Amino acid sequence: MKIANSTAEYAALRSGLDGDAAPRIAYVPTMGALHDGHRSLIKLAKSLGEVVVVSIFVNPLQFGPGEDYARYPRPLEDDLQVCEADWVDIVFVPSVSDLYPAGRQVTVDAGMLGSILEGGSRPGHFNGVLTVVMKYFNIIRPDVAIFGEKDAQQLACIQRMVIDLNVAVEVVGAPIVREPDGLALSSRNIFLSVSERAVARSLSAALEKAATQTSVPAARAAAYEVLDRAEAEPCFELDYATIVNPSTFAEVADDHVGLATFVVAARVGGTRLIDNTKINFAPAPWA
Ligand code: PAJ
Repeated sequence: MKIANSTAEYAALRSGLDGDAAPRIAYVPTMGALHDGHRSLIKLAKSLGEVVVVSIFVNPLQFGPGEDYARYPRPLEDDLQVCEADWVDIVFVPSVSDLYPAGRQVTVDAGMLGSILEGGSRPGHFNGVLTVVMKYFNIIRPDVAIFGEKDAQQLACIQRMVIDLNVAVEVVGAPIVREPDGLALSSRNIFLSVSERAVARSLSAALEKAATQTSVPAARAAAYEVLDRAEAEPCFELDYATIVNPSTFAEVADDHVGLATFVVAARVGGTRLIDNTKINFAPAPWA
């Protein structure tokens, strides 16, 4: 496994992969604190390309003031061991000054899709994500990049960006990896106390209930039954729980038929958690 600590070091490795028999490069961007969710993306990358590249970088541009940039976990040695065990070929670990040299001005704007829901609660977040991902695509030069469906709105923004800016990278989504009780794996779960961890289960529990329903109003009601109970706990504060179009993230109508995404976000203690599930609403049998 090779480790590139700068864009220049990566470029030197990458130029060796150009040529007639160029391998297919599969890329997994991460902020580190690697868990089984990240590892499932690496596994998928292995099946999609001959050379697997993982980046580890806590991107300051996507954190707002007062968010958890400073305390975000950075267990680099452990992460490198995980990459080694998972047969990653190149790990790109740039520094802030390398990716964001003084004088930078140009950013990618995620548009309307980036300003609603997660983007409404975290202004500028998706512009920060798209800007760094665009930079990664230009630096890494992958054929295919893998992103988790856990961050469904992020995946939709990236899919929109590659279409709107004609980016020649194939974007692939990977299913959400969960704890046995349903909680979606996240690098932020380590911040949860034992009692908060128990309440955090409500997000996936609400989605599970919703997914068994056949109409939008029934799914909403089923989820809120669980979420209302959670809101009785002082540590739980719901941000949003809504059923949206999987591409535009616009709220669907009550009589919506076909695929939709139920997205939920809540603060549990000092930790912000998000989750989602796809639901296929069948047409009513009498329609
Ligand atoms: P990070 O939160 O480290 O996540 C890296 C990738 O792992 C993302 O594509 C995310 O959706 C995926 N992931 C996280 N938890 C997952 C789970 N439980 N199951 C499946 N996939 C999961 O997302 C980011 O970093 C950053 O925004 C980044 C894209 C790297 C840009 O800075």
